[in-house]
Amino acid sequence: MNKNSNGMKTLFSGIKPTGQLHLGNYLGAIKNWVDLQKKYDCIYSVVDLHALTIDIDAATLRKNTRELAVDLLALGINPKKSILCKQSEVTGHTELDWIFNCLIPVAELERMTQYKDMCVRQPKNVNAGLLTYPALMAADILIYGAEYVPVGEDQLQHLELTRVLARKFNNKYKKYFAEIQPILSKNIRVMSLNAPNKKMSKSLGETSYIAIRDNAATITKKIKKAVADEAGVKNLLELYKIFGETTKYKKFNRDLAKKQLMNSTLKDELTKSVLKFLKPVQKKIKYYDAHPLEVEKILSDGAKKAQVLADKNLLEIKKLVGLI
Ligand code: TYM
Repeated sequence: MNKNSNGMKTLFSGIKPTGQLHLGNYLGAIKNWVDLQKKYDCIYSVVDLHALTIDIDAATLRKNTRELAVDLLALGINPKKSILCKQSEVTGHTELDWIFNCLIPVAELERMTQYKDMCVRQPKNVNAGLLTYPALMAADILIYGAEYVPVGEDQLQHLELTRVLARKFNNKYKKYFAEIQPILSKNIRVMSLNAPNKKMSKSLGETSYIAIRDNAATITKKIKKAVADEAGVKNLLELYKIFGETTKYKKFNRDLAKKQLMNSTLKDELTKSVLKFLKPVQKKIKYYDAHPLEVEKILSDGAKKAQVLADKNLLEIKKLVGLI
């Protein structure tokens, strides 16, 4: 079930519309999403159902979802090659989620680091969705029979749980799901600008990240204010390595070894290189923002294609479980 008619294997990944897409998301996952389109049948999902596990109002969720789809298109997700869709628009994710919820012991869900973090982060909103979050993630992937999943390091524990769930299902019913493989990028963990010992994240506030949609003044200010202790400089250098020039990168490293690196020079050069990278991306964002119907059509066409794949697999899964 895992190879499609063209012989390519299926790959799935998702991103939550809970705020601005930032360089951590891009370097940790989305850059890989773009590159992997050549080798796999890719399904990329804006996981709006997962976003409901945080306190988010309807208008914000709608806006974030639309903008995130635009950002993904602008960064290079090609709807002619890959399926781009909204999680909630494809029924089947939640049906398989329920089947998985009934297979997974609560204790395994309670062990998840992200669940424990979220309980601390939003103590007044420890909803059941936070706990069962990884079962829905497993359903997202396995409903398509996907075998490959490009993510950042923080999602590895959830992917391990997906493997556990696939094994439990296979043992109880029939060997149906394949073992999934995570695909990590070189930059598995991009660190925060304001707290370089933590990963770049929306939840650490706006000065933690550079958003794909940030304007030049904001980016300049954020990089200028970035913490430049040992871990901070290492993170800025890592970012410069990706966006900047190799010869200058090597010189910065030599200067650092001689304790002669000027943080302001590194920051100025990094700002220039990030702005250069984002210029054509933001031009495309502007185009898609001005053509919302085009974006809506891409998402609904994507959902239709995904639905066909999901329906076919769900029928077989329901038969195995005894629902049909
Ligand atoms: P999300 O929306 O938090 O993040 C999207 C992707 O960005 C990666 N990422 C990072 N990588 C490196 N450094 C960082 N600082 C950084 N911050 C974020 C994440 O690892 C992720 O790959 N639960 C998932 C969404 C999801 C999903 C799925 C993913 C739902 N269903 C099925 C894969 C397969 C999440 O919250 O990602």
